[in-house]
Amino acid sequence: MAKLLIRDLRQVVSPAGGDAPLRGGALAELDVIEDGYVLCDGAAIEAVGRMSELGLMDSDVEDVDGSGLCAIPGLVDCHTHPAFGGDRVEEFSLRAGGASYEELHAAGGGILSTVRATREAGEDGLARAVERHRGWMLRAGTTTFEGKSGYGLDRETELASLRAIRTAGGVPTFLGAHSTPPEFPDADGYLDFLLEAVLPDAAKLAEAADVFLERGAFDADQARRYLEACREHGLALRLHGDQFTEAGAIRLAIELGARSVDHLEATGPDGVAALAASGVTGVLLPASALFLGRPMPPGRALVDAGAAVALATDFNPGSAFCESLPVVMSLAATQLALSPAEALSACTVNAAHVLGRADRSGRLAPGYAADLVLLDAPDWRYVAYHLAGDVVATVIKDGTAVPQRAAY
Ligand code: NIG
Ligand code: FE
Repeated sequence: MAKLLIRDLRQVVSPAGGDAPLRGGALAELDVIEDGYVLCDGAAIEAVGRMSELGLMDSDVEDVDGSGLCAIPGLVDCHTHPAFGGDRVEEFSLRAGGASYEELHAAGGGILSTVRATREAGEDGLARAVERHRGWMLRAGTTTFEGKSGYGLDRETELASLRAIRTAGGVPTFLGAHSTPPEFPDADGYLDFLLEAVLPDAAKLAEAADVFLERGAFDADQARRYLEACREHGLALRLHGDQFTEAGAIRLAIELGARSVDHLEATGPDGVAALAASGVTGVLLPASALFLGRPMPPGRALVDAGAAVALATDFNPGSAFCESLPVVMSLAATQLALSPAEALSACTVNAAHVLGRADRSGRLAPGYAADLVLLDAPDWRYVAYHLAGDVVATVIKDGTAVPQRAAY
């Protein structure tokens, strides 16, 4: 594979050195090179530097003119639910008229309506859906994405979801414990089935396990049972926690040494302090809070307390139909009081850490993946500043420019 030189970039911006996850002041430390270049050798970055220091290039190096553009690392979305059939546009309209997300869920709508549509989609339909969603993410600047199962809730559809995510190049997470499907009378009976009949094969396809620890979903004891079993099968652990209520998710995440606890809209001061003193990363999903009209998670308090935080979209059809990390960065700046620099680290290097990939993704530095976003902006901070704007000019994944529109 040939070398690719992106030259004459207005700015080349990357989270600065320091081991992931970045915390406190380190979250805002960036290396900013004015008038720079990025040289890729195949799928890896070979060098990053100032144009004035660029030596002579061989004639076989492909040259891209980066004038007027800023380069940031390819974005890393560490929390998405891309494996679903159908949509929830009716529910969206009902919510606009005042119905609450939890009421719709309790009435058999919400997650369970997507479960019905996902089971009907079949393996091919599911694979096409994930591929389509991956295309949306990629064109928005996401070069690494995690994807969860959790809309199958039966053996066949959970495994098909994980396969579809892997095939689309995603990092698969087994979210069998998302909700209890209607064929089981209670959550404990469903967990018996899940751990015996699905987990052994799901663990061969997934890298991590996740659970929805919430009133109306799974309680802390059920979540512990599920996560401990998943850990025995070699999976890293994640939790959906404190979305609506504080039901012990942070405590459990710390006890089990989970990689992350995600949502945190309901987290109070004790949870903030506990998370900050732990090795668990808090994944903030402000697009979900916005989409549901819920309080925002305490982003500023978490960063100030020294917690490791990441940002993600939570892309899904019900609570966050949004695949754009640039929009999430705008929300982080306007709603969570994070600086653009903190937001950038949170959805690059720290998100890569949550996925166990901080050694290869999330920075523009030699040896890292040749994944970049070129911004059509005079200053890289436009990625957050230009709300839902047309800032992503080019996405480069594994050293190759991604076509901006795919035909589906
Ligand atoms: O992270 N809260 C749980 N799961 C998803 C939403 C799922 C859905 O509404 O379909 C979330 O927000
Ligand atoms: Fe989620």
